[in-house]
Amino acid sequence: MLKWATCQLLLAGLAASWCVADELDTSIARGEKIYQQECLECHMDDGTGVPEVFPHLAGSATFAKSADRIIDSILAGNEGQLVLDGQNYTGLMLPVPLENAEILDLLRYIYASWYPQSKVKLDVKMIQLRRALAAEKKQEP
Ligand code: HEC
Repeated sequence: MLKWATCQLLLAGLAASWCVADELDTSIARGEKIYQQECLECHMDDGTGVPEVFPHLAGSATFAKSADRIIDSILAGNEGQLVLDGQNYTGLMLPVPLENAEILDLLRYIYASWYPQSKVKLDVKMIQLRRALAAEKKQEP
């Protein structure tokens, strides 16, 4: 009896982790589509960008440690002087109108593709926080 109960618990656990993995995969697949539609034309298919014109989203020491600047770029765009990993940029990127869930999909795609070793935790809460901070900044005179 006990054996059966343990077995059922084990099975439930397995199913749960399988479902989570499946959910993550579909999220990454959605993120890939968003990347192709919204970012690829400037930041390139493989995220390498164009040095001194379009910053690299792949292979950055900065983004390996934090997703904040990626989220901020999507929410508020970028203008004027920008330094990323020692390279200078003086271009313009307009904000990209995406929902929080879409930004999470996109980040999961970026991190799964180019930062598989990164310890950055991705969740909707961090995106909500950056959105609140961006809104506050906008209100400053
Ligand atoms: C039309 C071209 C274009 C598109 C589309 C675009 N960007 Fe950018 N992006 C730029 C340019 C140009 C810069 C540099 C801006 C500057 O020099 O201030 C930049 C900068 C960035 C940076 C660097 C920010 C930092 O603080 O180092 C990130 C991250 C970024 N973009 C992410 C994205 C993501 C994610 C998308 C898609 C949702 C996207 N960009 C779409 C042109 C683009």
